[in-house]
Amino acid sequence: MSGVIRLVLLLIEVMVMGATSHDHREQKQQQNNHDVSGVSVWSGDSGWGLQVHRYCQLNHHRCNEGMEVTRDGWVDAGEGRGIIPPAQGITITVLNQRTAQLIFSRVFPLRLYWAHWADLDWHMKHIAPGRIVIMAVSVSGIYGLRHASIRLAALGSLFARHLPPTAHWTWVFIMGGRTISETAHINTHIHLPHHVHVLLPLSSIPHPPKSHSRWQYCENHGAMGGLCDEVSPDPLPPPIPSPVVKQDQLTPVPVIVTAGKRHQYLYHTLITLMTTPGAIHHNILVILGDAPASTTFLLHLLNVNYTTLPVYGHQNNKLFRYYRAVFNHVAVTFPNAPAAIFLDEDVEVSPDFFSYFSQTLWLLNYDPSIYCINAHSATGFRGLAHDPSTVLRARVQVSWGYAISLNFIRELIAIWPEDINHKDTVLYDAWVYLHASQGRECVFPEVSRTRHYGIGVNTDAWSTEQWFLTQPLVTHSHVHLSNITDLTLKPWQHKFLSTLQHATFLTTNPCLPTFVPSVNTTTYFIFCYALNRKPEGNLNYQNFYFAAKCLNAWGVSEQGLHEGVLTIRTSLLTTVYLVGTPYSPYGYLCPKHILPWSYDELSDDDEQHVVDRIRQHEIEGIIQNNMQVAKLQFGQTA
Ligand SMILES: *[C@@H]1O[C@H](CO)[C@@H](O)[C@H](O)[C@H]1NC(C)=O
Ligand SMILES: *[C@@H]1O[C@H](CO)[C@@H](O)[C@H](O)[C@H]1NC(C)=O
Ligand SMILES: *[C@@H]1O[C@H](CO)[C@@H](O)[C@H](O)[C@H]1NC(C)=O
Repeated sequence: MSGVIRLVLLLIEVMVMGATSHDHREQKQQQNNHDVSGVSVWSGDSGWGLQVHRYCQLNHHRCNEGMEVTRDGWVDAGEGRGIIPPAQGITITVLNQRTAQLIFSRVFPLRLYWAHWADLDWHMKHIAPGRIVIMAVSVSGIYGLRHASIRLAALGSLFARHLPPTAHWTWVFIMGGRTISETAHINTHIHLPHHVHVLLPLSSIPHPPKSHSRWQYCENHGAMGGLCDEVSPDPLPPPIPSPVVKQDQLTPVPVIVTAGKRHQYLYHTLITLMTTPGAIHHNILVILGDAPASTTFLLHLLNVNYTTLPVYGHQNNKLFRYYRAVFNHVAVTFPNAPAAIFLDEDVEVSPDFFSYFSQTLWLLNYDPSIYCINAHSATGFRGLAHDPSTVLRARVQVSWGYAISLNFIRELIAIWPEDINHKDTVLYDAWVYLHASQGRECVFPEVSRTRHYGIGVNTDAWSTEQWFLTQPLVTHSHVHLSNITDLTLKPWQHKFLSTLQHATFLTTNPCLPTFVPSVNTTTYFIFCYALNRKPEGNLNYQNFYFAAKCLNAWGVSEQGLHEGVLTIRTSLLTTVYLVGTPYSPYGYLCPKHILPWSYDELSDDDEQHVVDRIRQHEIEGIIQNNMQVAKLQFGQTA
């Protein structure tokens, strides 16, 4: 078939700007390359593939050792079960620069437009300088490359920003160094894959001492960030961070990190956590569900306590049992702790994470109407989070980075079923909210102290990008939180009521750009929408949904409401309270002459405003960076 197709392979050698320390490495690599590796990579409609051979310098024959193959194409599942298609997207494979051994390989599903580009970008950022990186499109993947194309261009890719969505593409390069080969195939009428074969000089830079278990680990693992960066390695163990003002509040509180086999995420999460002011290293306990050697070895390197709780089952059922086992373990191991902080392996903390908890943890055992302290903001989305010192309370689930008391954990265990059979128990945090919170609220900051950066295969990619990846994060430490005592129930209700009583009513369509007047002094607004029960008894949140969406707030569920009221901070000076009447206990504040807003009663014009505004919010800020198809002259089929 290669006789039929003439592909123009563009072989480019580019020294990448700003990589002086690695330029040196490159030169050395070329001067005395004792070993050479051969790489074959293909990209096409039917999948992708990679072969790595190691040649011995002496006779230019293939060495027997060191051949790696990975491929993904259409496979017959056998026994008449049909054909399994290959994973579609962009693949990243990382080779050890001295041995050509395959140390990381993943297909990122970038045939999907949303969010996964951020995960690819994250992994690129965590590949150490000097590593050999091979990228290829499997079936289709350029469509979802989006902003990641900027990093690829900065790393030396000539094509990443200029390819059409259906292009097939391969790129072999040295991280922080030169491109070995970059090829693209943009003629979509050709359905045969294109193949690239290159010779790769292997690095002869002396290996860091193998006696050191860290470098032994790095021999076999890619995308580990500063752990395996030989030029500027992360200090290990990480330095002890400075204490926070109320450090004594953190002393008796274990920090539980729930983790599994995604050790790239876990390393980043732990290093960030351990270097955050207020962190107490021996209070951290990693509880593993799946515990492959790559994870436990890493935890030894970091000198972090861990324990393994093997769990059985599948997907959410397995997760549900796992968290049950985690809570059990914490109750048994730390019976006298006032509270425990929980964090997942793919949640990054802000520098203010521990400072925030040190000021709020006491509320858990003081106010029986509070069941959790969340570090993640339930309402602080893009454009709606301004003041790091403000803390709120509302009905909400435990979310990324939360504290609960040991008493609450014991309550949970007492009612937690061994097995889940009900349809409302898909996720453990939802289950806790529905069955254990019993009307109690959580405390959370206006501006988040955590970001959930990990992206799994089952992630709702659109929501992840639209809401969570773009959420503001507090980027400094030691924020003094204002008026924490006002978060206890009585003072909070008192203050809340008094603010609402003095607020100005808004009565136009919430989707009009002029809905919230612009002000130059702190102003509180109140907007009344109709919130009634449906015939079968549940609340009908339709009006809430549209009113919240008009202001670009989370309207999808009732998460973040305090007694039927959503607080939306549209600017540092402006707060809008969406009051659901008559359901909310504050509903009586809506005067008789103001009809509560109801979507079903909108005029056609107003309804169109709603549709237009929501559409505008949902595509706002989403820019495609890789859609300019360059008028490159590629070879034609013969
Ligand atoms: C971690 O291990 C040390 C030493 O065994 C122990 O003193 C400490 O309590 C442990 N911490 C946690 C949170 O398990
Ligand atoms: C704290 O509470 C006091 C009294 O209620 C109030 O005057 C002050 O503005 C509050 N501070 C902040 C930052 O909200
Ligand atoms: C603030 O706004 C008011 C009316 O909206 C206006 O009269 C006043 O001049 C403004 N003050 C400043 C300092 O801009």
